[in-house]
Amino acid sequence: MGDRFLKRYSYTVIANDFMLAGKGASSIKSNLKSLGINASIIRKTAIISYEAEINIAIHSYGGKIHCDIYENKIVIICEDIGPGISDVDMAFTEGFSTATERVRELGFGAGMGLPNIKKYSDRLEIKTDSSGTKITVTVCL
Ligand SMILES: Nc1ncnc2c1ncn2[C@@H]1O[C@H](COP(=O)(O)OP(=O)(O)OP(=O)(O)O)[C@@H](O)[C@H]1O
Ligand SMILES: [Mg+2]
Repeated sequence: MGDRFLKRYSYTVIANDFMLAGKGASSIKSNLKSLGINASIIRKTAIISYEAEINIAIHSYGGKIHCDIYENKIVIICEDIGPGISDVDMAFTEGFSTATERVRELGFGAGMGLPNIKKYSDRLEIKTDSSGTKITVTVCL
């Protein structure tokens, strides 16, 4: 199978909107189901999109997630506006979190999102600075 591009699903993530956060990931999940994609690939993609979506809602000023389907892979592109991640190695360390008390009360802030995104990806690229963060994650089919 080649790497021909097939389809893009996109959604907007609004900062601090905890009613909406997670809806994008679940709509990606149902779209992938309707494409007949393998269940373990759907599970990995859903975890990656969910964690990225929550991170944008909690830690950024807002952003977008694109889920690109190719013949041989799924690429999840997560882009947000500021403040960026000042220490990327630290951010990928299990248990590290800068989440506020208020956000922790909602059940977030275990410091497991980025480690899990990495764990379920076949490839991960991150670009971050004080104007925003872009994480590109590939899951091979
Ligand atoms: N999009 C982002 N913009 C700015 N900082 C981020 C972003 N994503 C993650 N971070 C930083 O990296 C840290 C680790 O992220 P990670 O997702 O692993 O944990 P968390 O979001 O704090 O908790 P959890 O994901 O377990 O609810 C965050 O606490 C935050 O400091
Ligand atoms: Mg997180």
